[in-house]
Amino acid sequence: MQQPKVSVRGLYKIFGDNISEAQKLLAQGLGKDEVFSRTGHVVGVNNVSFDVAAGDIYVLMGLSGSGKSTLIRLINRLVEPSSGSINIDGEDIARLPPHELVKWRRRRVAMVFQSFALMPHRSVLDNAAFGLEMAGVDRRTREERAMAVLGQVGLQTYAAKYPSQLSGGMQQRVGLARALAVDPDILLMDEAFSALDPLKRVEMQGLMLELQREHRRTVIFVSHDLEEALRIGSRIGIMEGGNLVQEGTAHEIITRPANDYVRRFFKGVDTSRYLTAVDLLDSSLQGQSFGDHQRIAASTPLPEAMKIVLGIDQPVSVFDDTNRLLGAISARSLLQKIAQEARHV
Ligand SMILES: Nc1ncnc2c1ncn2[C@@H]1O[C@H](COP(=O)(O)OP(=O)(O)OP(=O)(O)O)[C@@H](O)[C@H]1O
Ligand SMILES: [Mg+2]
Repeated sequence: MQQPKVSVRGLYKIFGDNISEAQKLLAQGLGKDEVFSRTGHVVGVNNVSFDVAAGDIYVLMGLSGSGKSTLIRLINRLVEPSSGSINIDGEDIARLPPHELVKWRRRRVAMVFQSFALMPHRSVLDNAAFGLEMAGVDRRTREERAMAVLGQVGLQTYAAKYPSQLSGGMQQRVGLARALAVDPDILLMDEAFSALDPLKRVEMQGLMLELQREHRRTVIFVSHDLEEALRIGSRIGIMEGGNLVQEGTAHEIITRPANDYVRRFFKGVDTSRYLTAVDLLDSSLQGQSFGDHQRIAASTPLPEAMKIVLGIDQPVSVFDDTNRLLGAISARSLLQKIAQEARHV
């Protein structure tokens, strides 16, 4: 496997001054609440390990207080780890001395928060150029670059305006432009779209995916919204009480939720919208091909794939976008799957 871009191992954040005592209790299997009642220490992040591949959007999801913000802030050490490692391109960020850390942050990483945190007395252009100014980039270069990223987020014509003259959605775009302007390798986004109304939110998710197609950045994105996670996440990590209780692709999370806590996020969400033909493959037909006229793309959305399969009384072959045969779906296996699902609801 390709070397991951970000590799987190055994990461802990315990808020308090006797970390080893709290860690000892955690190692004995005690939960966050018990550790708090015995030591008064708050477990922010408990022994978390995960990898993020270059160019992926990794979404961290979980209820309020589950440790999402703490975890994402540990990545660039806005929060200092209690123990564990954060490898990025083979370098352990947890061990960087302060002056190296400042340099690393300026060069490689940018963060977007829920509150737009724009400077009200500065124009949109100057806000977008702020990170570059901090990095000591000369005025002409930074304004050119800021203008280019404002173009990417559709705000070029607003460059001379002030934040108060923009809608919330537009302000969040400026926040995103400011982060993109420094051309970060890694983009950390904490509930970046949560303050937006649902329509604006979906629009920003679309913009993210569009930007990703052009410049594949490694993005870690915190959200408490499963639909957002399913829409934009290459992989999703689910946090509960400081623990990463499950991680995987949208497909893995939907088809094999680790526990009831994970399942609870599905309530009111039509998860089948996020599944595709791949999720219907019949393992008993592995390796068989059924002629070219009955073929569909792996990315065919589930409802459409079902319609096709149920309309033909022969198995349908499924190919990926490199034209590789992945397997086949039969009406029989499909009906079995539906019956199985029905029993689980
Ligand atoms: N500076 C701090 N001092 C003490 N405890 C903290 C601190 N920051 C966070 N915590 C605690 O760590 C836990 C995780 O908080 P965190 O902010 O990471 O959660 P979250 O998942 O981001 O929640 P939300 O969805 O509300 O933003 C909580 O119990 C919180 O009270
Ligand atoms: Mg948070």
